[in-house]
Amino acid sequence: MSNRLFLSLATFIAAVWLTGTTVSATTYNVKTLGAKPDGRTDSTKAFMAAWSGACGSTKPATVYVPNGRFLVRGLQFNGPCRNGAITVRIDGTLVAPSNYFVLGNAKFWLLFHGVQGVTIVGGTLDARGAGLWACKTSGSRNCPDGATSLAIANSNDVLVYGLSSVNSQMFHIAVNGCRNVRVVGAKVVAPWNSPNTDGIHVQLSTGVTILNSKISTGDDCVSVGPGATNLWIEGVACGPGHGISIGSLGKDLNEQGVSNVTVKRVTFTGTENGLRIKAWARPSNGFVNGVLFQNAIMTNVQNPIVIDQNYCPGGKNCPRQVSGVRISNVKYQNVHGTSATKVAVKFDCSKKYPCRGITMRDVNLSFKNQLPAAAYCVNAGGTTSGVMKPTSCF
Ligand SMILES: *[C@@H]1O[C@H](CO)[C@@H](O)[C@H](O)[C@H]1NC(C)=O
Ligand SMILES: *[C@@H]1O[C@H](CO)[C@@H](O)[C@H](O)[C@H]1NC(C)=O
Repeated sequence: MSNRLFLSLATFIAAVWLTGTTVSATTYNVKTLGAKPDGRTDSTKAFMAAWSGACGSTKPATVYVPNGRFLVRGLQFNGPCRNGAITVRIDGTLVAPSNYFVLGNAKFWLLFHGVQGVTIVGGTLDARGAGLWACKTSGSRNCPDGATSLAIANSNDVLVYGLSSVNSQMFHIAVNGCRNVRVVGAKVVAPWNSPNTDGIHVQLSTGVTILNSKISTGDDCVSVGPGATNLWIEGVACGPGHGISIGSLGKDLNEQGVSNVTVKRVTFTGTENGLRIKAWARPSNGFVNGVLFQNAIMTNVQNPIVIDQNYCPGGKNCPRQVSGVRISNVKYQNVHGTSATKVAVKFDCSKKYPCRGITMRDVNLSFKNQLPAAAYCVNAGGTTSGVMKPTSCF
């Protein structure tokens, strides 16, 4: 081999190695493995074959989904894998079966379980949830719960980058029992009246980051369940939807607490709630400690700032009880904009465990057309500084 040829070959190999291009032998292309981009041929087997290949590889590996619409039933991407660097790169769209009973009782459509070091890049998940929502809103008793579109469970070091999720049956994305999961640049879309379609749900997990995402849906844009710690939410645009919600908490007597949550640079447009903490009016040893809400802009939000510890839907299993969830050290800083109702700030806390240590700095919320808004407190205490509109109720 001539020197020149050798050099260019070496450069080529280096380039492939550096950029991780798809020429590498450890790419598993679902189409090569039999998937059909026609939106109607069941491609589940090809996807599972691609995952088996990537997960069984001793070197970093890629599952590649090219352009096109791929019909897939439930996909379980289980670990542990033989390497700690798997990329799932999706250029196309995954579509769920049109019959919602196929996934309806499965809990998850795509599930990553027990994996470490997985990056999911791009892709659109179209769960076609409309049929199930119609079933649920018709009041029929024969509707399944529905499947979460993408669940990451018992996993560490996962990045979900640039994923779109449309019309999920239930939650769009859920993170449960994980460490170090980042969801960056997600785009979530479902109608404002689609039931239970939370955008991103996080529970029993530490070190989860949700960054620069746009969420328009029928339930909470982000919901935070028991056992979420060191959670960072930044750059989220929410609306329509039910806001960013810590809770519902305290449904169970024994429950892990929520601590160290940061929510910053967020906007809410026409949402039901803005920054919310919500707990059942039931005995519980749960808690919320250490939350910073910073730099939020509200536009026509029904309940911009709310702590509700009297959650008891339908008055079932909790009338006349009080919440055991202890809420402390919650900060609101630089929250501006408009409330769609007169009460822009509402702290309705537990008689047994009043909210303590709420601090508010530079809060400026007005009711429609600059009318003054109001604040409402029950069993809540704290301090304010800087601008405080509405006038504090502490
Ligand atoms: C709080 O969580 C953030 C990540 O969201 C982390 O960087 C920080 O170290 C945590 N603080 C404490 C005191 O654990
Ligand atoms: C509060 O916000 C309103 C509307 O944006 C603005 O006109 C007003 O100057 C602000 N007040 C303070 C004290 O910052």
